Amino acid sequence: MEIKVTKVEQSKLGSVDFDNLQFGRTFSDHMFVAEFENGEWKNFQIKPYSNFSISPASAALHYGQTIFEGLKAYRNKAEEVVLFRPEYNCQRLNDSAARMCMASIPEEIFMEGLRQLLKIDQEWVPRKPGSSLYIRPFMFADEEFLGVKPSSKYKFVIITSPASTYYAGAVKVKVEKKYVRAAEGGVGMAKNGGNYAASLYPAKLAQDQGFHQLVWTDSKTHEYIEEAGTMNIMAVINNVIITPSIEKLTVLKGKTRDTVLTLARAWGLSVEERPIRVEELKNAHENGTLEEVFGVGTAATVAPISLISIDDVSYDVPHLQEGLFSQKVAQYLTDLRLGLVEDENNWMQK
Ligand code: COI
Repeated sequence: MEIKVTKVEQSKLGSVDFDNLQFGRTFSDHMFVAEFENGEWKNFQIKPYSNFSISPASAALHYGQTIFEGLKAYRNKAEEVVLFRPEYNCQRLNDSAARMCMASIPEEIFMEGLRQLLKIDQEWVPRKPGSSLYIRPFMFADEEFLGVKPSSKYKFVIITSPASTYYAGAVKVKVEKKYVRAAEGGVGMAKNGGNYAASLYPAKLAQDQGFHQLVWTDSKTHEYIEEAGTMNIMAVINNVIITPSIEKLTVLKGKTRDTVLTLARAWGLSVEERPIRVEELKNAHENGTLEEVFGVGTAATVAPISLISIDDVSYDVPHLQEGLFSQKVAQYLTDLRLGLVEDENNWMQK
């Protein structure tokens, strides 16, 4: 696979304040672009990060065929640039593509585009602890046609952004029982733009009430929790780590979710992937068995939840105490990225 490389004349690196990075505001010098037309991917390019020219009749703008991924590059203790389970993201992008009736991207194109892009922009991977280079691969429909049908043309793009974590501290959430994120048979498992667009209005209402995020409930009964905005959700009750199951395809198949569950099992802890009733959280809080609740996601990493509001009643949740599972797993993941612990699962890639 040949990638045409055009480098920037002047890097923006010098103008970036790496000590004060926000999530998703600063973009590295280059991007990878591939085009799908007549049934094949072609025109592989790494070029300066820049705007696209797009037809006003492009299918992505009208019918929302647009999907994305999120992963991070880190610097380990030897100053090498490392990636965490990138193939997982390629697989999930293709799962999203299948559900949204879009072209699938061969792993070779995804990985080679990513590798070469990171090689060129390696100086953009932050050195400050807690920061990383957030990588956003995405694909959108690019056919100029207003009929409602799967597009015949797509662009696959990778942009990167040096960033700190998404949430600065513990997160306050509200259990949402009116609006829904996903219904069985819908597109909840896909990482498509529309899922996020649909979340904005209910999330804004919650933010106006002082919450950071919503915890979505199931569309039929609102009795079961599903996921929290930008992350999967986990609770520890009576020493058991529980998280909503993904089999009904209404919950995103999170990479951090999978990683945390794999580690917990390997450490001999009890793990349950099953429906979680809102009442179960409430009861556990009342009888003192709710040890912690936290979100897990690439952007959010492991985010402790300090407060849950259920039916307008706020419940304080233990967080940031020493010995909590979320702290232990968050520390382990940091050590793994730094190369301080053995990578038994072969998750890190240079
Ligand atoms: C990620 O964790 O990478 C996500 O996709 C969440 C994002 C919407 C901020």
